[in-house]
Amino acid sequence: SHHETISQLTKAFAFPIAAYDGLVDQFIKELDEGLRVEDAMPMIPTFVYELPTGQEKNKILSLDLGGTNLRVCRTTLAGNGEFDIVHKKWTISDELKKGPGKGLFAWIADRIEEFLSTSCQNDHLEDTYPLGMTFSFPCEQLDINVGKLINWTKGFRGLDVVGHDVVKILQDCIDAKGLKITVNSLINDTVGTLLATTYKHPGCEIGIIFGTGTNCAYLEDQANITKIKPTAANFKSPTNQQLINTEWGAFGNKSGALPTNDYDRRLDQKSSQPGNQLYEKMVSGLYVSELTRIVIHDLAHSGELFAGTAKTAKTDQELGDLAIKERLDGAMMGAFEGDTSANLDVIDQHFKSHYNLDTSLGDRETIKHICQLISARAARLSAVGIAALIKKRELLAKPKKIIVGIDGSLFNKYPNFRQHLEGALNEIFDAATVKAKISLIHAEDGSGVGGAIAAYLACKQLHKI
Ligand code: BG6
Ligand code: GLC
Repeated sequence: SHHETISQLTKAFAFPIAAYDGLVDQFIKELDEGLRVEDAMPMIPTFVYELPTGQEKNKILSLDLGGTNLRVCRTTLAGNGEFDIVHKKWTISDELKKGPGKGLFAWIADRIEEFLSTSCQNDHLEDTYPLGMTFSFPCEQLDINVGKLINWTKGFRGLDVVGHDVVKILQDCIDAKGLKITVNSLINDTVGTLLATTYKHPGCEIGIIFGTGTNCAYLEDQANITKIKPTAANFKSPTNQQLINTEWGAFGNKSGALPTNDYDRRLDQKSSQPGNQLYEKMVSGLYVSELTRIVIHDLAHSGELFAGTAKTAKTDQELGDLAIKERLDGAMMGAFEGDTSANLDVIDQHFKSHYNLDTSLGDRETIKHICQLISARAARLSAVGIAALIKKRELLAKPKKIIVGIDGSLFNKYPNFRQHLEGALNEIFDAATVKAKISLIHAEDGSGVGGAIAAYLACKQLHKI
């Protein structure tokens, strides 16, 4: 029955309040370990040593390769934390995501050219116009404009570029087209989020993405980054601080600390990188919707969903796309959870039009409930990461407010994700402390602005400004 099914799933996706403290401490342990040794959470030192003041002024190009979209932007930093962006956005097709990396980069260069000819016609580009590249995958940074792709995440597969400098690959594609552009900086999207938030809200030290994937960047004292020698070229910080791209999606990979269930394990085994990004696989949009699909698919097979009064199990053929990996749209999952109509019409319509499946009201209630369970667990685990950073950096003890810049489709579009996240932080700390001390701020145009600021800071590092 609906009731039994839900109670089993509630158990499977439970994340009890009692589990918070232990998991937060384990998270801190893995963050610290990543600063000391190589074979741990990546904790990648960036070449960004200073944060913008908000007074920077410039017009600059940036591109933003996220998990789902590519954006090319022309940002005007206007000072006083203000900016203006002209941009164009394209969805990255499955063929590009899963095909050779060289093809993806050639396509990006084509889009830059398209943007220049359609949106920047009145600009007088100087000889070598700088462009800031925001790239939302783990790269080992060798300089502000050099980064080797460590591995793809979020289902991208172009093996030919793994281990290679992505800036050089993009630059070669740009040069091949004869465009007068120099890619002068490379940052992760979390660094972009942090820079963009700081530009408007000075004092922000943490930038997070909850989108197709999840990750966090923060400001660390260089003395704590013991895996690099202080004499190395990447220690030129005037403040003895440096941004770290944590790649926290990898939390739990080695320790087995995450409370995974059978669905999580099946998702992982069928993913393009089993054993990798285990935290991300319980938290972010791509995987949360895939977990939901797996659960619905199981229930259809056992005759508990879409069976009408006959209660016959559905075959994969009858389920159509719903039987295929990653074919449940993450954005739709949010819409299901947000469906407050008495008849759950959004769910009804979607299953009819996309999967050709008739649902009973009971089916639709079960589906909505599944979405709620899985997204609530995701929000609680997301709060664990935020709490770990706050505790590790002892930010509650400081007099100033803790500003956390956040971007990504899960945070921006999923109904109630923010409320769940705040609720979970209230459970970890206490509501009064959270209210007084922590602000979660949506990083407006995160990586577009962030990439522009990085390009600006890179020019400054090279004494070009
Ligand atoms: C966007 C940022 O708003 O969010 C990107 O500008 C980031 O840099 C993206 O990668 C993450 O969300 P999603 O859902 O596209 O992965
Ligand atoms: C994945 C990537 C990471 C990125 C995050 C959010 O976790 O590995 O680099 O920041 O997704 O887009």
